[in-house]
Amino acid sequence: MKKFLIFAFVLASVAKAEFDLTTQGKRIFESLHCYICHAPRDDAAAVGPSLETIAVHYLGNERRLIEFLKGKAKPIIDPQRFFIMKPQLYKTMHMTLDEYRALAYYLTSIHKNR
Ligand code: HEC
Repeated sequence: MKKFLIFAFVLASVAKAEFDLTTQGKRIFESLHCYICHAPRDDAAAVGPSLETIAVHYLGNERRLIEFLKGKAKPIIDPQRFFIMKPQLYKTMHMTLDEYRALAYYLTSIHKNR
């Protein structure tokens, strides 16, 4: 019984940590107005790639995504339209490690929690 309680507690903590990351990441995404160009799903009217497309390219590769957000890695999804995205990077260039982690988690989370 005791073991089970510890297991349940660990499981709940992991679930809560992931939930917090998504919530925090979403908050950053919204406060920086990223949604103006990035819709959750593919949408011909959207200027930038959807979160779904971003997840396809960066899920499991969040480290590179953070490098991109720091302005240190080249775009891999749509380099020809990077000139539209580039000015946005000034908003994400100087964040804390926690903020990068949360934003990267959210940007790749479409298949995880939603
Ligand atoms: C004015 C429209 C616009 C806004 C606002 C915008 N983006 Fe983008 N974004 C784009 C376009 C266009 C692309 C496609 C070019 C590219 O792949 O870099 C893109 C690409 C991306 C990519 C994929 C990069 C790659 O490897 O190709 C990520 C990640 C991203 N944006 C994150 C963000 C975040 C985070 C914000 C908010 C701080 C944001 N964008 C705000 C237009 C925008």
